[in-house]
Amino acid sequence: MATVTLTDNRNGKKYEFEILSPSVGPDVIDIRSLYQTTGMFTYDPGFTSTASCSSNITYIDGEKGELRYRGYDISDLATKKTYLDTCHLLLTGKLPSKSELAAFDLEIRKRSFVHEGLKNLFYAFPDSAHPMAMMSSSVSALSAFHYEHLDIDQEEEFQVMARRIVAKIPTLAALSYRRSLGIPFIYPDIERSFTENFLYMMRAYPSAKTIIRDVEVKALDTIFTLHAEHEQNASTSTVRAVASTGAHPYAAISAGINALWGRAHGGANESVIAQLEMIGSVDNVDEFIKKAKDPDDDFRLMGFGHRVYKNFDPRARILKNLLDELKEDLGVDSELLEVAKKIEEVALTDEYFIKRKLYPNIDFYSGLILTALKIPKSLFTIIFVIGRSVGWITQWIELKHDKEMKIARPRQKYTGPVSKKI
Ligand code: SDX
Repeated sequence: MATVTLTDNRNGKKYEFEILSPSVGPDVIDIRSLYQTTGMFTYDPGFTSTASCSSNITYIDGEKGELRYRGYDISDLATKKTYLDTCHLLLTGKLPSKSELAAFDLEIRKRSFVHEGLKNLFYAFPDSAHPMAMMSSSVSALSAFHYEHLDIDQEEEFQVMARRIVAKIPTLAALSYRRSLGIPFIYPDIERSFTENFLYMMRAYPSAKTIIRDVEVKALDTIFTLHAEHEQNASTSTVRAVASTGAHPYAAISAGINALWGRAHGGANESVIAQLEMIGSVDNVDEFIKKAKDPDDDFRLMGFGHRVYKNFDPRARILKNLLDELKEDLGVDSELLEVAKKIEEVALTDEYFIKRKLYPNIDFYSGLILTALKIPKSLFTIIFVIGRSVGWITQWIELKHDKEMKIARPRQKYTGPVSKKI
């Protein structure tokens, strides 16, 4: 048995902990008995060196810029498969055959409708409501319409619950968007594929022909695949923490949506475009790079940096190639694309970014494609939600099967007053 020994130099005491080996990636030190044997906690704000669980869903190699879902390389899935292929892979552990994909696709299409009562919720929001507020509220409300998923423990029940949420999130996203514009809701069209149907529910007007081009469906479907899963990021860890208490799975997904909303996480894609528009021209890039480097300026280059990727984010590379491939067909804003490329070029040769291993992440280029698809900035993080919903629910299911799973309850280093008298 491989072990590591901890020596307390205050008293010479030695403590031994087992080293556990993964199928690939860093070994882990099993410190579950640390507090019991040493009376001490570890200290790791932001969990930069902490493995919170065992998982066989997604593997990321931050140094090599590698991302795999169930062992398949992200670039293969993004370029050779559809988002629904990826959903089937994540949820069942295998890529679907042609007939399995057809059956899965039909099931998702049929489950894309939401209870009529749920639509009333959207009228309670003010016109100015951010779509993400409506999204997290409506997904939480979904637990009221599907309360039967609260206490489930059979794989078949997990699959029904999971397919239901994957199918309904795009419909709720479109409802959030149309409510924010005060325009009539559009029902799902089960004659259309998952991604085409979402664009249809976004764009259609009653009794008018809706134009949706294949190139647009391909671009958005790729974006959904690239966002589908990413191991124990902040929003997934939130879903797992809520799942560990036994709450309703859709309450856990709603919590994940709220965690994703933050600018440091999924909310970055909305900020990237706002930042590119603010910078406006390649001539202004140097000034903003300077601001990003200034320790006294809280300005950050949105879409840059990542907790895990310390070389490049493979998803950003795939999106950059997709932009170059489709920019004419999609009518991508060439000025903003030039600004983005100039930022990347300057930052990648600048000592500040090189030393801190800051590279473009998935959010840096995604907004340019979404803008070309006429998706408003306020909906960018919702697009991330649609892609990531399958990853969250797959992680939820894995946690439910995990014999080592315990309620998430970290400890702390207390620095407050020791004792006070009234
Ligand atoms: C996502 O975890 C995931 O997997 C997330 C995600 C997923 O798929 O789920 O990949 C999706 O959230 C992508 C990240 C989107 N967020 C942004 O683009 C926001 C801008 N980036 C940062 O805020 C930051 O880089 C983080 C939050 C992404 C990562 O933060 P870390 O790992 O905690 O790093 P840090 O904040 O400790 O920064 C280390 C250093 C600091 O400088 P020093 O104090 O050492 O001098 O790098 C600097 C930071 O100031 N830095 C930046 C910067 N990001 C980090 N400086 C300028 N611009 C930036 N963007």
